[in-house]
Amino acid sequence: MKVLAILYTGGKAAQEEPKLLGTIENQLGIRPWLESLGHEFIVSDDKEGPNSVFQKNIVDADILITTPFHPGYLTADLIAKAKNLKICVTAGVGSDHIDLNAAVERKIQVLEVTGSNVVSVAEHVVMSILLLVRNYTPAHEMIERGDWQVSEVARNAYDLEGKVVGTIGAGRIGYRVLQRLLPFNCKELIYYDYAPLPAEAAKAISARRVEDLKDFVSQCDVVTVNCPLHEGTRGLINADLLKHFKKGAWLVNTARGAICDADAVAAALKSGQLRGYSGDVWNVQPAPKNHPWRTMKNPLGGGNGMVPHYSGTTLDAQARYAAGTKSILENFFENKPQEPANIIVGVGKYETKAYGQR
Ligand code: NAI
Repeated sequence: MKVLAILYTGGKAAQEEPKLLGTIENQLGIRPWLESLGHEFIVSDDKEGPNSVFQKNIVDADILITTPFHPGYLTADLIAKAKNLKICVTAGVGSDHIDLNAAVERKIQVLEVTGSNVVSVAEHVVMSILLLVRNYTPAHEMIERGDWQVSEVARNAYDLEGKVVGTIGAGRIGYRVLQRLLPFNCKELIYYDYAPLPAEAAKAISARRVEDLKDFVSQCDVVTVNCPLHEGTRGLINADLLKHFKKGAWLVNTARGAICDADAVAAALKSGQLRGYSGDVWNVQPAPKNHPWRTMKNPLGGGNGMVPHYSGTTLDAQARYAAGTKSILENFFENKPQEPANIIVGVGKYETKAYGQR
């Protein structure tokens, strides 16, 4: 079979660090195995435009492997051209780069390595909340500049204790974020999700569900976004919803960039409606050099915690999603059932409830 993988270039770092498995250099560690089974394996980072390796090879590929960190965007148009495509594997979590409705129609299966990097992301979210609330980055930049003016950074630094923290999406990541925040003695941990947590799970972290989104955001000092990107969440956090946030709230989004309206977030930070915004996901990846999120600031010159998309791609996570990708392929080649939690789209139907209410 023809297996096509769109991964990112790791360069010198990937040559020096073989554990960077999600790169075109280290190829998820599966080339020798795939070739020993007689499969053809094409790996590239070249994914944009009709002449890209991605678009040229998708027409007769049987299997597509992509990663959310450098997504090969499989649109409905490309799906129509991909005559042999049977299965798409996301090396990681989050398959919004694939037109899932078109995959359902064409009976192309879509699988993720569910759970492979949820702890990695949850840790990043907790870190980001603390960095914003404590005004860490401007304080560190002050030190690098050679300055020392405590009041300049303390004037916008707070404790997390006593604050209300809420997650949009209380699945694997959202729940783990709240779990990890328990010892910080927040005033309250709340969540917004159409799927209520099982009673025992909610009780274990004393989490309260709020059913109306505007009502939910108006109660939060910190909002963290942990739901997939789909028709119901694209642009969910826009100028209108941001008006309902508490003035000076902090927002952390490691889910998907397009869940937030980029210009509305930048404007809310500039006006002080948001005190801080942090995350690693962007509406286009790689983000253009002039993307407003690279340099946006609050009125005091801080509040920006943006990094490239890497929260879910620690070396620990890469080992897990590389092994998970291999195991999905093995099941596929040997006609064995897949792990149910990994199936986003089965043959002709959605197998998950996480990508929107249908
Ligand atoms: P999950 O499937 O365990 O949980 C997602 C939750 O979001 C579900 O409970 C679902 O009901 C809820 N949800 C869906 N639509 C919603 C809506 N409109 N409003 C409120 N809640 C909604 O998924 P998991 O593992 O927690 O991952 C969540 C997302 O995080 C992924 O889909 C992906 O986009 C992102 N992610 C980001 C990574 C990174 O490196 N930055 C790595 C891994 C995941």
